[in-house]
Amino acid sequence: MSDMDAGNSSGHADEDEKFLPPDSIVEMAYVQGLSGYKELYERSISDPDSFWSEQADALAWHKKWSSPICKYNLNVDNGPVHISWFDGAETNIAWNALDRNIEAGLGDRTAFYWEGNDEGVERTVTYSELKSMVCRIANYLKSVGVKRGDDVTMYMSLVPELPAAMLACARIGAVHSVVFGGFSAEALADRILDSTPNVVITTSGTMRGPKPIPLKAIVDEALQISDGKGHTVQHVLMLEQLPLSDVGGVMKAGRDVTWREAVDSQPDDCPVEWMPAEAPLFKLYTSGSTGKPKGVLHTTGGYMVGAMATTKFVFDLHPASDVYWCTADCGWITGHTYVTYGPLLLGATQVLFEGVPTWPDAGRCWSIVDKYKVTIFYTAPTAIRALHAKGDAWVTRHSRASLRLLGSVGEPINPEAWRWYHEVVGGSRCPIMDTWWQTETGAHMITPMPGATPLKPGCATLPFFGVEPVVLDEQGNELQGPCQGMLAVKRPWPSMMRTVAGDHKRFEHTYFSAFQGYYFTGDGCRRDADGYYWITGRVDDVLNVSGHRIGTAEVESALVSHPACVEAAVVAVEHAIKGQSIYAFVTLMTGSEPSETLRKELISTVRKVIGPFAAPDVIHWAPGLPKTRSGKIMRRVLRKIAAKEEDQLGDVSTLADPSVVQQLVDLRGK
Ligand code: WTA
Repeated sequence: MSDMDAGNSSGHADEDEKFLPPDSIVEMAYVQGLSGYKELYERSISDPDSFWSEQADALAWHKKWSSPICKYNLNVDNGPVHISWFDGAETNIAWNALDRNIEAGLGDRTAFYWEGNDEGVERTVTYSELKSMVCRIANYLKSVGVKRGDDVTMYMSLVPELPAAMLACARIGAVHSVVFGGFSAEALADRILDSTPNVVITTSGTMRGPKPIPLKAIVDEALQISDGKGHTVQHVLMLEQLPLSDVGGVMKAGRDVTWREAVDSQPDDCPVEWMPAEAPLFKLYTSGSTGKPKGVLHTTGGYMVGAMATTKFVFDLHPASDVYWCTADCGWITGHTYVTYGPLLLGATQVLFEGVPTWPDAGRCWSIVDKYKVTIFYTAPTAIRALHAKGDAWVTRHSRASLRLLGSVGEPINPEAWRWYHEVVGGSRCPIMDTWWQTETGAHMITPMPGATPLKPGCATLPFFGVEPVVLDEQGNELQGPCQGMLAVKRPWPSMMRTVAGDHKRFEHTYFSAFQGYYFTGDGCRRDADGYYWITGRVDDVLNVSGHRIGTAEVESALVSHPACVEAAVVAVEHAIKGQSIYAFVTLMTGSEPSETLRKELISTVRKVIGPFAAPDVIHWAPGLPKTRSGKIMRRVLRKIAAKEEDQLGDVSTLADPSVVQQLVDLRGK
């Protein structure tokens, strides 16, 4: 945690360069001008009860909450950490996303313009149609015994049936756990074993760019791996996309059913379960600095209000006129909050895109923007950099006249990519919302608002309503004024995670033990003279590759699962497109020799254990690793060697064997 050089901020930032909100944006904005923001922000901090009640009143509640609106303890010294919002209230988030909007007359409004991987493959789903789909899935789940509080795992492509399945769980009080379709069978098996679902919902298989993804076959393999380890899955529901025979899955009698058999014939109405505000809504597995990925648990009421309020204010979303497109997959938190929940709670129309930005060519995003007249476009810096690298012509040959706002999420956006996004994609007229948040925070935390916040390229700017960030030094002192340190948050916000599923101690240890009384984010940050927050990246052993969070420990344990590998240490190096790439130092068993074959085997082991996106770019043979006398690997030293900066090693007096450094430098590139 003390490795402050772990950040991946790159490019040159100018703290005084500001982009003011354009008049046309301010005129229609919910929050106008910095003074408008400040007034609301101050009220959200001084009187959270009134501020959040007002937000929550925009939604429907079966039973209202009692006062105070939030009860909590964040200090481990004062007993168990607990957070509750809207205690005593009951609601249903699926009802709020669908029935409430339909009752308000939006039944025929398009909920999703679905655009498939291949051009010309498309579907439109209205709010009424989506509700019917959700109810049929919910009725299927009930028919196989899924009840309130039960887990359901999804491993699917990005089709409307995925958000629908999430909403179906929410409708009947079941807890969804979506696993991104890029995870391997082993990673899926781990998540299934941890969350103990009765049902897994999947897709036969689909194309991602030019590549077939055999989702059902991966589910089959995951269940085979977890056979004998006590998995609980009794039913697999499969949506047929590619013919199963083309992608290698097998239907197992008594366990597997197709959508056509099991869902299509279900009644298209299903009563909702009114859920307590603190009832679990979903688990989403994410990587930390140690151990296996943890199931981040979010609950119903606070998450719903946070998702709705941030989507509304941060994207200044006007549901009657905007067409919103977030490119995230529902397998990540961004796809939960800013595809499935936030936009639907507001009654918005959105694009759901199954494919990748570079298929069939690098103009795909802008052709989709023109096709559906997208007004708000939200993506990740890695996609922006990848498209930037392909050249401006792919962008400028499309009109993009409908765009009015842009967004960025997932990692620090370097000022160079920001400028290109602003000038070329947004034609210098669309403000960029650089949203800093995390799986754990559930919703945006530090972010501009379109009509209010002067922007600085590469800066996430100011806290969202109700969020009180602090910058701490290593001893946990709150720093004042312009400063640099570690980012923590002082009080709970509604969409905050409530626990690590099945392991509350780990929750307390991971987020509340470093600095007593604060939620620690794991990120470093700088605050400038305007009070703006500049996120510098993780200060723990978490990597961010193309916006995907990966723990160094996970990659290392995958590498040592190979019989030839005795020890591994993984660090991040800067990468022009991916932000960071994975660089692995590997020590081999006595008797094993470095070779190209072994290098490939090690990489494919990581692909198999975690997923292709976690594959190391470099394997660096390491006869020994730099360790302290107490045996701790000095990653700081490894990062410098990987970055070819061994002339800047800093203090290495604690190294047990200083000769290791030169040995590693000599082996670089071998
Ligand atoms: C990083 C994604 C800088 C950060 C929503 C955080 C960012 C981690 C930004 C969470 C941003 C996300 N600027 N860094 N705008 N957004 N991050 O859980 O390091 O997948 O801790 O949530 O991504 O990643 P996660």
